[in-house]
Amino acid sequence: MKQSLTHSDTSAGMESSTDQVNDDRVRELVRANEELKQLNARLSDAQDKLMQSEKLASIGQLAAGVAHEINNPIGFIFSNFGTLERYLDDLFQMLTAYEEAETAIAGTPMAIQLKALREKVELDFLKEDIPTLMRESKDGITRVRNIVQNLKDFSRVDTSQEWVLADLHHGIDSTLNIVNNEIKYKAEVVKMYGELPDIECLPSELNQVFMNLLVNAAHAIQVDRGTIVIRTGAAGDTVWVEVEDNGGGIEKENVGRIFDPFFTTKPVGKGTGLGLSLSYGIVKKHLGQIDVFSEIGVGTRFRVTLPVRHPQEGVPV
Ligand SMILES: Nc1ncnc2c1ncn2[C@@H]1O[C@H](COP(=O)(O)OP(=O)(O)OP(=O)(O)O)[C@@H](O)[C@H]1O
Ligand SMILES: [Mg+2]
Repeated sequence: MKQSLTHSDTSAGMESSTDQVNDDRVRELVRANEELKQLNARLSDAQDKLMQSEKLASIGQLAAGVAHEINNPIGFIFSNFGTLERYLDDLFQMLTAYEEAETAIAGTPMAIQLKALREKVELDFLKEDIPTLMRESKDGITRVRNIVQNLKDFSRVDTSQEWVLADLHHGIDSTLNIVNNEIKYKAEVVKMYGELPDIECLPSELNQVFMNLLVNAAHAIQVDRGTIVIRTGAAGDTVWVEVEDNGGGIEKENVGRIFDPFFTTKPVGKGTGLGLSLSYGIVKKHLGQIDVFSEIGVGTRFRVTLPVRHPQEGVPV
């Protein structure tokens, strides 16, 4: 009895220790399973990201290819335009000389014929309108060239740029000229420029940043006519440029995504969602930073801060 008791005691002890082992195993299995689940989730996240970045890379490559193809024809249209402008100047000069010479044949049938022809072709209007058309077309080509450049930059095909000392105000002003068409009907631009030293930079790239910020600001304006304020200033060994609009503002949940490539809230065909991601990359390349302050219904302010000197690439001053 005692023995059996002992026996049954022992077997109970063994059972409980087996249960314990089983419990431990189950727990271990559950834990391992949990770990596997987590790993699996991370793996599928990573796979999504990889697919996304592969997609981006192939879009980038496609963009680079298209940009490369467009670049040549745009190049010769641009250069021919310059020549055409000079030829037109010469022609207008010649035309003025002819017009002046007309007084010598005043009253003759030829003079009457010339007058009729001049009125028919509206020569005075042509003389005014042709330079305007040329200017607008040149703006258009310049914009296409910028888009092509943007695409090339995005895919980082074209990396041969030089760091130079440049006046940011000059860059902002020339950018304003280029985007004037996009802005002038939507907003008044107020410049509040401070004193800026020349900074060591890639000026054409920074111009793209200003262009993106200005065009975004104009697009954000919802009233008939808004205001875009450009402020600049220097602080220690940095300078800053702000572009502020009184547009619709950015939704809170979107603020963290606006710098993502292809993030856009604009309708198809209106925005590619590349502007800010490109700008972010350019500012980072300059070892600067870009901040955004936005309030729905009040407006948005982007602030770009840049070091005056670019530490990695020395430029003889
Ligand atoms: N000043 C602003 N006011 C309100 N929303 C803005 C402003 N700037 C950017 N955003 C928001 O950030 C998004 C991304 O901007 P981003 O410049 O990268 O792309 P996009 O302007 O939509 O297209 P793209 O610049 O390529 O033509 C915009 O679609 C818009 O929702
Ligand atoms: Mg944009």
